[in-house]
Amino acid sequence: MTLLIALGSGDPNPWVKEFTALLPDRPTVKLGDSYEPASIEFAMTWYHPAGSLAHYPNLKAVFSMGAGVDHLFRDTALPDVPVARVVDPDLTNRMSEYVVLHALSILRQTRRYREQQKHLQWIDDDWQPAAAEVRVGVMGLGVLGSDAAQKLKHIGFDVAGWSRSAKSIDGIQCFAGDDALPAFLARTDILVVLLPLTDATRGIVNRPLLKGLARDGRVPAPSLINAGRGNLHVETDILECLTDGTLHEAVLDVFQTEPLPEASPLWTHPRVTMTPHNASVSDPLAVARAIAAQIRRFEKGEALLNTVSRTRGY
Ligand code: NAP
Ligand code: GLV
Repeated sequence: MTLLIALGSGDPNPWVKEFTALLPDRPTVKLGDSYEPASIEFAMTWYHPAGSLAHYPNLKAVFSMGAGVDHLFRDTALPDVPVARVVDPDLTNRMSEYVVLHALSILRQTRRYREQQKHLQWIDDDWQPAAAEVRVGVMGLGVLGSDAAQKLKHIGFDVAGWSRSAKSIDGIQCFAGDDALPAFLARTDILVVLLPLTDATRGIVNRPLLKGLARDGRVPAPSLINAGRGNLHVETDILECLTDGTLHEAVLDVFQTEPLPEASPLWTHPRVTMTPHNASVSDPLAVARAIAAQIRRFEKGEALLNTVSRTRGY
């Protein structure tokens, strides 16, 4: 009945404390503690060391500490048990705040006016489209993408989304599947990436894709916001596209290597806004409560919520 906390980095002790309080009738341990492997029935992980879950004969389910599960599926020795992820309104709201903040910041040219202020420049030329004249395209219309799309719509943007399977969301133009991708891109001035990282999406945000974005918009050139995963994009392609005018701005929360290496030109690029993979952080108490509730469900014989497909990778 033991829960194992398996973190690749960070301090597991606050989690052990939280789960011990929430599940007082069963032990919570962390990797490196001394325990009987046969006692481990559940594991909560975040970038656990590959292979570190392979030796628990009674493991029944694995919980991701976050919304993404790519960190789990990179472990080729991951036991064949159900995998569930976090779906939490707090996490969803935080992501939508991030997306709306940066879409508005691109629309209202925050970066440009900050620069002008630095140089005591009062330049008020006439380019300021309304939100309704700017087309936002959200790649990934899952829990996070569909919420962000609806909030962007509420602000007034002209919003579309793209997903694997067909969707119908009030007020949002929905595109589905690879065949629909060119049409989706061709009507996109601000591209928001909220896809999961899978074999099908790795490197998808590359130069050919960025070249396919709208060229007839009310913006100088299209912009990119990626808060999904760093390996969805190709950083050298983003830099090239910023240099040759294919892209106007890039807002990146996630990177191919994290932390971003000091040598990366993204750090100092004048049209890149970076955040340290915290567009939406999981509130530890909310996550611990959700996982504790999942364990109780499972033990009552009820189906786990928010399970993911190993074949699809999300
Ligand atoms: P989700 O509910 O699983 O939604 C994923 C969406 O992507 C779905 O609409 C899915 O299509 C679509 N999709 C997947 N593969 C696709 C493909 N090959 N082609 C087209 N569409 C595809 O995931 P979520 O909860 O919205 O989270 C999305 C991602 O955000 C996570 O996986 C994680 O990487 C990232 N994230 C980042 C942060 C951060 O702080 N930066 C925080 C939380 C999450 P269908 O609807 O047809 O299945
Ligand atoms: C954060 O990146 C998450 O996947 O929850």
